[in-house]
Amino acid sequence: MQIKKVLSVFLFVQLLFNCQENAIQKGEVKIIPMPSKQTLNEGQFILSSSTGIDYPEALKVSAEFLKSFIEQSKRIRLNKGNDIQFIIDTSIENDEGYSLQILPNSIEVKAKTDQGAFYAVQTLRQLLSPDFENGSFNAEQVYIPCVSITDAPQFIYRGMHLDVGRHLFSVDFIKKYVDALAMLKMNTFHWHLTEDQGWRIEIKKYPKLQEVAAYRNETLIGHYNAQPQLFDGKKYGGYYTQEQIKEIVAYASARFITVIPEIELPGHSQAAIAAYPELGCTGEQVEVAKKGGVFENIYCPKEETFAFLEAVFDEVLELFPSKYIHIGGDEAPKTNWKKCKSCQQRIKDEGLKDEHELQSYFISRIEEYLNSKGRQIIGWDEILEGGLAPNATVMSWRGFDGAIEAAKQHHNVILTPGSHCYFDHYQSENKDEPLAIGGFLPLEKVYSLNPIPDELTEEEAKYVLGAQGNVWTEYMPNTKQVEYMVFPRILALSEVVWLNSKERNYKEFASRVENFHKRLDALDINYANHLFEIEGELLSIENNIVYQMETSSKGKIIRYTLEGSEPTADSEVYKEPVSINESVNLKARVFDAEEKLGTTFSQEINLHKAVGATITINKELNKSYPGSGAAGLVNGISGSNYRYGDKEWLGFSGEDIEIVIDLKQVKHIHSIETRFHNGQGQWIYAPKEIEIALGNGSFEVFELNANEDLIIDFKSIFEGEKAKEIRLRIPNYGIIPDGKQGAGNKAWTFIDEIIIN
Ligand code: ACM
Ligand code: ZN
Repeated sequence: MQIKKVLSVFLFVQLLFNCQENAIQKGEVKIIPMPSKQTLNEGQFILSSSTGIDYPEALKVSAEFLKSFIEQSKRIRLNKGNDIQFIIDTSIENDEGYSLQILPNSIEVKAKTDQGAFYAVQTLRQLLSPDFENGSFNAEQVYIPCVSITDAPQFIYRGMHLDVGRHLFSVDFIKKYVDALAMLKMNTFHWHLTEDQGWRIEIKKYPKLQEVAAYRNETLIGHYNAQPQLFDGKKYGGYYTQEQIKEIVAYASARFITVIPEIELPGHSQAAIAAYPELGCTGEQVEVAKKGGVFENIYCPKEETFAFLEAVFDEVLELFPSKYIHIGGDEAPKTNWKKCKSCQQRIKDEGLKDEHELQSYFISRIEEYLNSKGRQIIGWDEILEGGLAPNATVMSWRGFDGAIEAAKQHHNVILTPGSHCYFDHYQSENKDEPLAIGGFLPLEKVYSLNPIPDELTEEEAKYVLGAQGNVWTEYMPNTKQVEYMVFPRILALSEVVWLNSKERNYKEFASRVENFHKRLDALDINYANHLFEIEGELLSIENNIVYQMETSSKGKIIRYTLEGSEPTADSEVYKEPVSINESVNLKARVFDAEEKLGTTFSQEINLHKAVGATITINKELNKSYPGSGAAGLVNGISGSNYRYGDKEWLGFSGEDIEIVIDLKQVKHIHSIETRFHNGQGQWIYAPKEIEIALGNGSFEVFELNANEDLIIDFKSIFEGEKAKEIRLRIPNYGIIPDGKQGAGNKAWTFIDEIIIN
């Protein structure tokens, strides 16, 4: 009796609360991307077959989208009437903005444009059961919470890219991809249509693009870095017909998505040159490439090539009404241009300084042609080299520098830095992840992106149009794999480009992602789920070393062991940071009561002499690869063998670095060890040598064992020496040599734990 009374008082108090209008607690109404302003009100709207819908012609696309979405359910059919009303509101400032008022007896969508109303509909969609997504909703009515939302995106460019050169996907899949973008209020699909490994767009004037350039004889099996490289022996290829392309462009347009085609030049054009060898410098017959990478067969900037490209663009422009056309511009080795008579003559005739200016000339000519047809170009950030074409928009992929430089030159930019936007990178440290190109881009890092670099003034920041996720498909042979790499990272990106970075909170976002899984299931999307993984950090608190753990999932517990055994339902429950007094092999796992979730997290902690030491580095950490700061080099934890972008590796671009480790007291030094990443395909090179000085002693030079292994180990032994301070000089490898990926660019140095025994 007593208990019941308490309970009913509690319920009453709760009801009282519910009756008041209150700002929605973060995550209470779980919409992705989160609306910029939302309030949860009392009551619910009951949607059923007696609900009527009314809309003006100008908001027809969005209203009809809503109607067909609802009518995918088995038993609800909307009537004529004004229970759901779409209203044009020209006072809404942002063309893509909207307001959505759900009251117990009405739903009101207001927007200036059909596109704004479409985003209101996508919000409303997420207030309905996921069973609507696949038509399995089978009740006669559904309750929709009363909310009041006013919303508009932060950026006008909200994009996703897809490379169909390396692998090709059906028209149905492209539509599914476009559908997902629309659901997440993204508005641009960057379709990467031409590559060394295959030309994927039908060009009627050049039949060999279909017959030759669209097919490769075989494909690399396994990772590019694996030796020896093996191939599958199977012909692979295909292309999209102009009819199919029109169908996709129309489908996307009906969802307010602009399709921007990319026709790569002057590089990544080996497939086209295989079909028409006269487009290259040498005229030599080459084959359509069988593996990823960067190839030296690039278009020769001669009149024949310009005539070819202009004719190609004539057909492309007929198919794609987009304001922007992407012309590539990345990774074009100048090796052949340096040896080519015609190229050298062009450099002379045009008074150009070098091959970079020749590339700039190439791009500018194409820009001029496209501008004359009323279009604008986008190019990868290499188009800055040798001078930016006058009206070009830059897509900054090699980090943030391209974006900063372009915005400072008052050119529009789109952020796609590899560190935050490359969805071909690994998303988990779990060793069982499917093969990927490398790198490490977990969900949280995508979410942490602020597309506006700090270096820009408010005025310059206006040139930042937005950001985009890139999906290079060398290691994505099928649609299931594409989905796995794209989801859930696209959810994070959709919010990055929609919502101001100050409004974002990763933990709260993660709880919405968990909730979103049901919708992705209903859509038959093969998403990755790493929410039940554990993250840990070694901390030095008042001379005590402790290990702190957390998981993104809410309401779950972590159990752990310290001696390498698998955690079970009987293992210690994690409550506070664990004291580390010796080297341990920690294993931990998320549990929901007794049930194991996710996978086991495992962390070896090596309590060597430098753990907890003070460490300084003479260079600022690189914004893209800051690891967990300099202290991460002496935290007892080594980086992953494959994921150089994890918290333990520090990356520096082209810089010589000097590190000072202060052990705080004089200690015996027997050995100093560290590791360098050497993922040359990703432009990462171990240094050729390093220099070490103990205490006040002079620097001693140690050569590194140069080879192509992915990790280069370094260890030096000291005989009975003592020191309090250790200094290391690590000169950068230098410029990447010809013939290698990224040739001519500065190499990256990636260094791991510095282990002192
Ligand atoms: C690129 O990833 N090569 C733009
Ligand atoms: Zn040439």
